[in-house]
Amino acid sequence: MTDPLLTLRPWEAPEVTSWGRLPMNAVDRRSGANSLDGDWRFQLLSAPDAPVGGPWSTASVPGVWTMQTIEGTADLPQYLNVRMPYTEFPPLSPADNPTGVYEREIDVPAEWAGRRIVLQVGAAESVLLVHVDGRPVGISKDSHLAAEFDLSGVVRPGGRSVLRLTVVKWSDASHIEDQDQWWHAGITRSVLLYATDPLRLADVTVRAARDGELRVDCQVRDSGGALPAGWYVSGELDGLPLGQDTEFDLANAEDERVSAFLGEARLRARVPEVRTWTAETPELYDLTVRLHRADGTVTDTSRHRVGFRDVRIVGRDLLVNGERVFIRGVNRHDFHPLTGRTVSYDDMRADLVLLKRFGFNAVRTAHYPNDPTLYDLADEIGFYVVDEADIESHDHAHEIADDPRYLNAFVDRVSRMVLRDKNHPSVIIWSLGNESDYGANHDAAAGWVRRHDPSRPLQYEGAAKRGWADPEVASDIACPMYAPLEDCVAHALSGQQTKPLIQCEYSHAMGNSNGTLADHWAAIEATPGLQGGFIWEFWDHGILQRVNDGRPVGRGGAGLYDNAVAAPGYRWAYGGDFGEKDHDGAFIADGVVFPDRTPKPVMYEHRELSAPVRLHGVRPEGVTVSNHQHFRGLEWLAGEWELSLAHGGTLTASAELPDLRPGGTAVVPLPFALPDDGGEAWLTLRVTTAQDLPWAPRGTRVCTPQVRLRAPVPVEDPVGTGRVEIDADGLLVHPLLTSAPALSLWRAPTDNDELGGMALRWRTWGLDSLVRRLVSVRQEGDGVTVLAEYAGTTGVVRHRQVFTPVEGGIRIDEQAELPAEFDDVARVGSVFETVAGLDGLDWFGQGPWESYPDRSAGAPVGHHHCQVDELFTPYLRPQESGGRHGVRRFTLSAPDATGIAVTLDEPRQVSVTRYRAEDLTAVTHHDELVPRAGCVVHLDAAHRGLGTASCGPDTFPSYLVAPGVHRWSWTLRAL
Ligand code: GAL
Ligand code: MG
Repeated sequence: MTDPLLTLRPWEAPEVTSWGRLPMNAVDRRSGANSLDGDWRFQLLSAPDAPVGGPWSTASVPGVWTMQTIEGTADLPQYLNVRMPYTEFPPLSPADNPTGVYEREIDVPAEWAGRRIVLQVGAAESVLLVHVDGRPVGISKDSHLAAEFDLSGVVRPGGRSVLRLTVVKWSDASHIEDQDQWWHAGITRSVLLYATDPLRLADVTVRAARDGELRVDCQVRDSGGALPAGWYVSGELDGLPLGQDTEFDLANAEDERVSAFLGEARLRARVPEVRTWTAETPELYDLTVRLHRADGTVTDTSRHRVGFRDVRIVGRDLLVNGERVFIRGVNRHDFHPLTGRTVSYDDMRADLVLLKRFGFNAVRTAHYPNDPTLYDLADEIGFYVVDEADIESHDHAHEIADDPRYLNAFVDRVSRMVLRDKNHPSVIIWSLGNESDYGANHDAAAGWVRRHDPSRPLQYEGAAKRGWADPEVASDIACPMYAPLEDCVAHALSGQQTKPLIQCEYSHAMGNSNGTLADHWAAIEATPGLQGGFIWEFWDHGILQRVNDGRPVGRGGAGLYDNAVAAPGYRWAYGGDFGEKDHDGAFIADGVVFPDRTPKPVMYEHRELSAPVRLHGVRPEGVTVSNHQHFRGLEWLAGEWELSLAHGGTLTASAELPDLRPGGTAVVPLPFALPDDGGEAWLTLRVTTAQDLPWAPRGTRVCTPQVRLRAPVPVEDPVGTGRVEIDADGLLVHPLLTSAPALSLWRAPTDNDELGGMALRWRTWGLDSLVRRLVSVRQEGDGVTVLAEYAGTTGVVRHRQVFTPVEGGIRIDEQAELPAEFDDVARVGSVFETVAGLDGLDWFGQGPWESYPDRSAGAPVGHHHCQVDELFTPYLRPQESGGRHGVRRFTLSAPDATGIAVTLDEPRQVSVTRYRAEDLTAVTHHDELVPRAGCVVHLDAAHRGLGTASCGPDTFPSYLVAPGVHRWSWTLRAL
């Protein structure tokens, strides 16, 4: 017998978006359902129409098969950004089309007799075919939304049936699911079976306004067709009973607007003194809606968490509850290093908790509707969500945007997302998708949303780029990606701006990146019309991989990584590591957290930039404290003052935070008297949570605003009596150094340096292999002057070192003269190496985390200490790492307190690692690095900013290293 589902060849028919699938709705059926998750029989076919008949193995549901070690299968993850992994044009698929057949028995409870029985497949990619006992039941596409099928007539209560879910990997739908992420396949979210009364709530729409007005619209259906007489709906909100809408009571079948088949009821309430929902104040009410028969029996119940809030665009401002809120957003994929796209409640909660602790208040669900739990958590923890439909046709964007064969799919995907997520207060904006050009298919989908949900704005980057102020295009927000900051500011100042400007992607976090984030936020906060953006992206999508056989570790690998580092024998795989012929390498590792969710240094930068409390100018009467929130006071915060003294240690004092409304400021008396030592002094307010919150226990760090109380007064080094020893090459001889201070103009290129083309220029100039030639050594008194030349392929740098004995050590005054052609180098500074065993670093300067000239706003000045190995940040593809900005002095010491002390003439960029720049440059993965026994120390007179040129703007001119003369001085002493 031929199978109609196969004869249709739905994997090459974009017009077929589903068959036999129930309409999407917002009634949550997860609780009380029977879970079908677990081990299923599984076989992988080479094509959807290949015969099933091979041996069965076992696969976990939910789970992608590409991340599981399943006997007889070898379909591994593949990473491609824009390009499709095959050459067939839309809507075609390759002949080699892995197809997973999942099968298991289902036992249907006898008590479900007379009930309506529904199968819910949480998500399957990319085409799902459903059979029960060999009979075709349905088809679904749209890989990141659930598909439901009515099995009432198909299974027998008290009986057992065989459920088969066939998942086809490549299809017409793959061409519109061409997002920048790993390609996987399988069933990625839970499978459920549940039963309802035939008379049921088919959908519930909740609108809860900022003024306390609540409107609940219910759709009622009966499997029998005509609705029974006298049914009605009731509801309560936190115990408050809701009233029927007297204007519109379609429960009453006499109302002529009602058909016997389509029941509608509307409940209304006005909540007095409503506690409104915002991301800062995620106040939720419990709503219960019940459907009754005429005799009062309840046939169905739907529960919702309701947040009262408004979202509106007024002029060019996006207002939440009337306030122009800043959007401190991140783009987040559903990702896990062990399970690919299957994420648990705990994982999602951990993601949002971490984001919240680091000052984020918004998430764009790049680039598809996320697991439904994410929205529940966003409501509860407090995030603004841009909910994005699963449409990205990147490789064939232009062909598909106007292709009528894909029209259904566009409207289907956008409308199903809206139908599912419309009741979440967290969702403040709908997005039509990503990187799919702009065509009639988008306008069709936009038309549907605007009619169905006029309560939220709509955005689509592909439309917005036709004109940020164009009223005709399907985007209410000007939502560019990676727009140069000066263009954004110019637009806001142009007088032409008509829409809020919120970048849907900015500040690309690939490797050691996110330079100029502070400059962005300074401009956003100072420029009306700019409201923020979404950093690209949350995750480094590294997959935990066994090095020996190249397989993904999969579930069960939880103990094999710690603190961003994979255990020996394992590594974080990126594009190309699974033997893919075509891939886009480490471009998949571009998040603000490592694959195990360890925050990268940029997270600390972000936390400070979003600080709810700030310190400003110091005056004799005190220091100004301000509240930078939109909706609440400072009562949820506790503070502690800290005074960091260059010539002393650190003093602390408890702080009383002033009672400040949003936007308010107060002058607080200085908590310390400055000692009379003339040294540099910094005042820091350590702000923590004052009580336990859903996302942070009491005492969790929130921010550490800081102001300088006193600038340093330069001091002359007392003249010393020692000798300076210089070898025949003109290099310093020092018992604690294994490699003498030499000039360095090179850093192991960051991803930004590589993809932005800077590293290529540096290599062309020969900066990675400068050849040193001694010019002269001149003794003057106890001091020595050494002149050398460092030759690249296209230019020569003159370098002078003057060594002078000072009390306890040597002062080294250096000068480097860069030729005009070296007009943008990575660094100018000294590099030297120490003996082994100096493993502890103490410094006075910015810290404690990694910082660079254009990413240093989150690293307060103070006394810091850590082990040298902790300084290094293990970016997936090794690159320049571990730098500390604004270092004034440091010691490197062994446990017996021997070691070196270095004092710098002014705050400088310093790094202390176990790796030479060439060690980092030579390898592709962190596990290949072999640490040196001693330390490699860089002191930079100038260090280039990081920028974000791997995708987007480079750093700003002020953070570049100019040619010409650079001077720096430092002293080296033995401890
Ligand atoms: C954007 C795109 C993202 C990602 C990013 C680069 O253009 O929307 O999906 O590819 O660039 O990492
Ligand atoms: Mg893309």
